[in-house]
Amino acid sequence: MIDVGVIGCGYWGPNLVRNLVENRHCRSVMACDLDHARLDYIQKRYPVDAITSDFQDILDNQSIKAVVIATPLSTHYPLAKRALEAGKHVFVEKPFAHTSAQATELMRIAEEKSLVLMVGHTFIYSPAVNKIREILDSGELGDIFYISSSRVNLGLHQKDVSVLWDLAPHDLSMIFYWLDEFPKQVSAVGRDYVQPGLPDVAFMDLSFGSGVLAHVEVSWLSPSKLRNTTIVGSKKMLVYDDTEHLEKVKIFDKGVNYKDPETFGEYQLSYRAGDIVSPKLDSYEPLQSEMDDYLSAILTGGRPRTHAESGLTVVKVLEEAERSLIDGGQPMKLSWDHVASPRQLTV
Ligand SMILES: NC(=O)c1ccc[n+]([C@@H]2O[C@H](COP(=O)([O-])OP(=O)(O)OC[C@H]3O[C@@H](n4cnc5c(N)ncnc54)[C@H](O)[C@@H]3O)[C@@H](O)[C@H]2O)c1
Repeated sequence: MIDVGVIGCGYWGPNLVRNLVENRHCRSVMACDLDHARLDYIQKRYPVDAITSDFQDILDNQSIKAVVIATPLSTHYPLAKRALEAGKHVFVEKPFAHTSAQATELMRIAEEKSLVLMVGHTFIYSPAVNKIREILDSGELGDIFYISSSRVNLGLHQKDVSVLWDLAPHDLSMIFYWLDEFPKQVSAVGRDYVQPGLPDVAFMDLSFGSGVLAHVEVSWLSPSKLRNTTIVGSKKMLVYDDTEHLEKVKIFDKGVNYKDPETFGEYQLSYRAGDIVSPKLDSYEPLQSEMDDYLSAILTGGRPRTHAESGLTVVKVLEEAERSLIDGGQPMKLSWDHVASPRQLTV
């Protein structure tokens, strides 16, 4: 059983606290936030053992072996570094760090001290995302042509990160997990329509060595909430709508066949529109599975599915996407010489 310290109890932290207090491997939770109102809220709602507004209390508590960081991005690196140096295992919410240099340094410290270091790519634990991976692996969709994703709604505008850093980690982590491939090139355009200097709308394009293209649209400035991903293959097409309750994943037996014309002027394309199937999905909360993986990795000395290295890969693409965005959409090349494949990272 593990005593856990959770730092950051704003919008997202309470979900982590709730899943930790219910977890079979968690003995106690100490909650930390600079804002006393958030601590009051947590204490009234969840059976936490202690609260504090000073992170040092968590670091000084010898029985706390694991830390969960759910604070804004600018604080991820300094807080994670302090926790690792104090000998704690660390889970950091996405995005893992603000630069790949920061991410690499955290990984080095964790490695030296044999500590678990993990990133919160929650969707990798989602039943729908894992079912899609199974479907892609089975070859049911044929060769994958492209993926197009929309993650848009009105708000929540963040104070320290652009919409790209806030929302795109979800799409990037899923796309790498599904395709088992990292992109060789990224470009992005975006605009800061509301807060000067912080883009609230961005369109990112990725191209992969296999020929797959991916387009990711992220926005805090859209009238309706979309969490929609379309995957188009040579045999079938798939739509994943995370806002749906029952039928999140649908497989469309739709496609276009091209026939070599026998005579000049013969119509060359035939369209196919067959059944639409929605596979049964397991029902569990991704965060419960994510926290379980974290605590199990600590207890067994194993590697969590969203190890820090997958956090680093997403940060690397975001860094280049941001450079492209600043540069008016110039394509940026990416190299992955020293990184394992996505499947090796997310066992
Ligand atoms: N995995 C997901 O699906 C998901 C969803 C939402 C947010 N997040 C991530 O969670 C993190 C937090 O996001 P949020 O929306 O909850 O932000 P938020 O601003 O609502 O909450 C952050 C909290 O951290 C506290 N805080 C900041 N610095 C602190 C410090 N030094 N010590 C103690 N407390 C401190 C703030 O007082 C605030 O209450 C971000 O990294 C975000 O990207 C992940």
